[in-house]
Amino acid sequence: MEFLRYAYIKDELKETVLNLLLSLQKKSPETFEHSLEVANLSFGIGAHVGLSQDDMIDLYTAALLHDIGKLGIDKNILHCNHLTEEEIDDLRYSHIHKTYEILKSKGVEDKILNIAYHHHERLDGSGYPQHLKANDLSELDKILQVADTTSAIRMGRSYKEEATIEETETILGKLAEKGTLETKYISAVVDVLDEEYMQ
Ligand SMILES: [Fe+2]
Ligand SMILES: [Fe+2]
Repeated sequence: MEFLRYAYIKDELKETVLNLLLSLQKKSPETFEHSLEVANLSFGIGAHVGLSQDDMIDLYTAALLHDIGKLGIDKNILHCNHLTEEEIDDLRYSHIHKTYEILKSKGVEDKILNIAYHHHERLDGSGYPQHLKANDLSELDKILQVADTTSAIRMGRSYKEEATIEETETILGKLAEKGTLETKYISAVVDVLDEEYMQ
């Protein structure tokens, strides 16, 4: 996987991360692509706000693994477009719990594990699974939340259709106003998207 930033994968987890990503690529290419995008966006935000090298490594490693719990979800459910509200809700919670279980079983340290476990939490407590609030969340948690949401908007998963850069930035702006995601990191990800767009 030559597109990975190997230097930013935690040394003692390199083999584990690669093996898990290979399994994910086979099971759900869409989730695999999303995980790489989320890791790249997290890296971009981290670079913009000047994270330390250690934090960058923890963030990038957590971002690559944040949805790894989808490995434990039935393929028919994962790729079904006609899930009921109940099934969607179940998938939301179960992929997070399975991510936690898989990372714990691989001996991933708590700091990285928690960043991944908190990626669907929101600053106002409206997220899941623990309904944490801003004060309970680390800066790295908040960066991953913004990166994950940005990728979801771009891929058209959460917002029905695939979005252009402009549409993505508009939706992110609205989320910033709502107070669910950290404004500082939304500004950073908009810069990252603009730079990518200019290339
Ligand atoms: Fe997720
Ligand atoms: Fe995700």
